[in-house]
Amino acid sequence: MKIQLSNKPVLEWGGDSLAIGLFEDAVELTDQLAQLDDQLGGVLKELIAEEEFKAKAHSTIFTRVSANSPIRKVILVGLGKPEALNLETLRLAAAAVARVAKKQKSKSLGLSLPLWNNQPAATAQAMAEGLQLALYKDIRFKSEPEDKEIKLATVDLLGLSGQEAAITLANQIVSGVILARELVAAPANEVTPITLAETAQAIATEHGLEVQILEREDCEKLGMGAFLGVAKASDLPPKFIHLTYKPKGTAKRKLAIIGKGLTFDSGGLNIKGAGSGIETMKIDMGGAGATLGAAKAIAQIKPDVEVHFISAATENMISGHAMHPGDILTASNGKTIEVNNTDAEGRLTLADALVYADKLKVDGVVDLATLTGACVVALGEDIAGLYSPDDALAAQLQQAAETAGEKLWRMPMEEKYFEGLKSEIADMKNTGPRSGGSITAALFLKQFVKETPWAHLDIAGPVWTDKEKGYNSSGATGYGVRTLVNWVLAS
Ligand code: BES
Ligand code: MN
Ligand code: ZN
Repeated sequence: MKIQLSNKPVLEWGGDSLAIGLFEDAVELTDQLAQLDDQLGGVLKELIAEEEFKAKAHSTIFTRVSANSPIRKVILVGLGKPEALNLETLRLAAAAVARVAKKQKSKSLGLSLPLWNNQPAATAQAMAEGLQLALYKDIRFKSEPEDKEIKLATVDLLGLSGQEAAITLANQIVSGVILARELVAAPANEVTPITLAETAQAIATEHGLEVQILEREDCEKLGMGAFLGVAKASDLPPKFIHLTYKPKGTAKRKLAIIGKGLTFDSGGLNIKGAGSGIETMKIDMGGAGATLGAAKAIAQIKPDVEVHFISAATENMISGHAMHPGDILTASNGKTIEVNNTDAEGRLTLADALVYADKLKVDGVVDLATLTGACVVALGEDIAGLYSPDDALAAQLQQAAETAGEKLWRMPMEEKYFEGLKSEIADMKNTGPRSGGSITAALFLKQFVKETPWAHLDIAGPVWTDKEKGYNSSGATGYGVRTLVNWVLAS
């Protein structure tokens, strides 16, 4: 599907399917639409009346046209109240239209939506994102996919000619989101720590980034006892991935992004029991997926910001070599951890990744992790938790997420709860009581950051969706990529 820009007025556009956005307060046809309706033999008025269309945000109605016109189908999409229009409304409206167009086997689509905030670039970008993210379907693992062939060859964004740069930017970002979705959705027998390292290497080769893959021995030399403790039971080698994007000139800022990279989480010897969702734990590298997706996008966009992309990738497995519940691990900053639950493995891998990033002397570090079920209990499936002791960094991330339409809610770092991680024998335990489980996880991570402004995103909920939702198809969402890209670009 190719997105094109056109300055043709709606009245002159002549393709297969025409889609028009309408505000909730203005369902009566404007002069221009009344004229279009005349051209189309009155189908619009009829359709709106028959379906009692109220133009609620991203609701759609559809009809065929029998009049003598090149346009064969019309789709109307609701935009809600004009004062509530934002970029996410446009993304969702474009996505809703794309789904109807696909279902109706439209060959070409003309899409006319109002400008957001008089900003044609942001409007075009949001529309292009919504269309492409909604049309993406993972058919890699089907021997005979039902919809291999997308009939929709072109989409013309009407009234947006001149916005080529915005479409390019949208394409670059979407390519990163899709990489993240594909890494997360692929099962643990397809995406392993080796695959993640190879993906980083492929991004580096394609776009001229620096890449360093630390093997087990390298990690041993750096004293990464927490990461390697988790990696012990896997038959696959752990890979510590460090991909670096450097701008041509001097970098305005230096940032680091860390993604939890558990390509499978069995729980370890504290094995996940019935109803724990063990069969979905291929998603436990969602942080690494978002990190590599962001790397792919940033590498193409080429901002004047240096960005380090890091993941300590491994699996949490069981075997005779597995770490025992009760083992004491020493992380690369010298802190000792009593592993009272081997299923709290993500924070162990992140501990060494945070210590590593802290030494890079960057201006900010953000980690993304499918860290706790407790965060999903607190915020539900759609919203990620944001933890940061740094108000400025937290505000930057909230703004970046808002612009992306990715839901993010700031959570408290209640220092007192760290008492729950007190160990009699080591510096800390890796798990505390059940209550406040996502807060104690964040407080655990904080022990491994000394100098750098740091934020932690618990993405256990929004990394995946069981059913199609907005511009997300069922499955991996690629959550985090767009927030990360916005954060880097605004730095
Ligand atoms: N990967 C899980 C968290 C998770 C749960 C991700 C549900 C996605 C969906 C993590 O490693 C884990 O097992 N966390 C435990 C922590 C507990 C042992 C303190 C949890 O949330 O139950
Ligand atoms: Mn776990
Ligand atoms: Zn995990």
